[in-house]
Amino acid sequence: MINDKKVLFSGMQATGNLTLGNYLGALKNWVTLSDEYECFYSVVDMHSITVRQDPATLRKRARALLTLYIAAGLDPKKNCIYYQSHVSGHAELAWILNCFTYMGELSRMTQFKDKSAKHADNINAGLFTYPVLMAADILLYQADVVPVGIDQMQHLELTRDIATRFNNIYGDVFTIPEAYIGKVGAKIMSLQEPSKKMSKSDENPNGSIYLMDDPDTIMRKCKRAVTDSEACIAYREEQPGLKNLLDIYCACTGRTTEEALREFEGKGYGDLKMAVGEAVVSVLKPLQDEVARLEKDKAYIDSIIKENAEKASYFANKTLRKVQRKVGFPDRIR
Ligand code: TRP
Repeated sequence: MINDKKVLFSGMQATGNLTLGNYLGALKNWVTLSDEYECFYSVVDMHSITVRQDPATLRKRARALLTLYIAAGLDPKKNCIYYQSHVSGHAELAWILNCFTYMGELSRMTQFKDKSAKHADNINAGLFTYPVLMAADILLYQADVVPVGIDQMQHLELTRDIATRFNNIYGDVFTIPEAYIGKVGAKIMSLQEPSKKMSKSDENPNGSIYLMDDPDTIMRKCKRAVTDSEACIAYREEQPGLKNLLDIYCACTGRTTEEALREFEGKGYGDLKMAVGEAVVSVLKPLQDEVARLEKDKAYIDSIIKENAEKASYFANKTLRKVQRKVGFPDRIR
């Protein structure tokens, strides 16, 4: 608990271009959660280098992501918005936790298997111990809840196992975190292959709406969205393209599925696609304008980066010192 509130931790990587799916499925919910919890939202740049990155691009994208967190409505005075690499405790705790994690556990991680297949020329040890760094992120702040997508559930389970193992040896050191699975889990699918999640690494750029797409591009992608030949606007598994368009429409306008279906009764697919495009633009345009405004205020963003790195370090070090003492590292001389 911090300030009588439960602690929440989550992070995103600054690799690839963020999509509408990242916004509606994650970032938008973070804003909702920020009243109830004491929140740490990290730009997890240390995780990003498990795959080779161009340094200038990574730096630029990390800053853009941090700015986006704020533009999306996370108040950086209330929420701790910071770069993972600015808080050395992440790496220090990760090392210790490495010594409490088994090779067998890490070998079973599906993301490791997928990524090592995809990057066969660079299966580095960081890729293997990626989940341990993630466990350190979470446990460092004694987080109670962690909003994550389904794809990260296995890593969260491992985090709980590591924390429990450590606590069993040394007493109550870590809070055991729970997953927070959003109630209105807006799962946004690809516009081109509606059976697949909308992804920042999609090869077909028409499948994803990127957060920085201009209005014309958004309208064009919506108009080209794959539908079906039923010629009837309905919300059902058999019409996945239409279902996805309706989900996007509802997530952007706040309407329920029933309201949306009533609105489009007797209308054509073209009308729906236009309306979806307009709804997406009405959400993304203000977000983009806010990003542009914040980007101009370099001094302000810099001050947030500095203050929050200090705030995060304060809480991180409290846990770290305790852990170091437990495992037997000599006390620091003051
Ligand atoms: N691995 C997460 C992802 O790729 C990002 C992440 C890193 C994270 N550390 C975290 C998410 C801690 C939640 C909590 O999506």
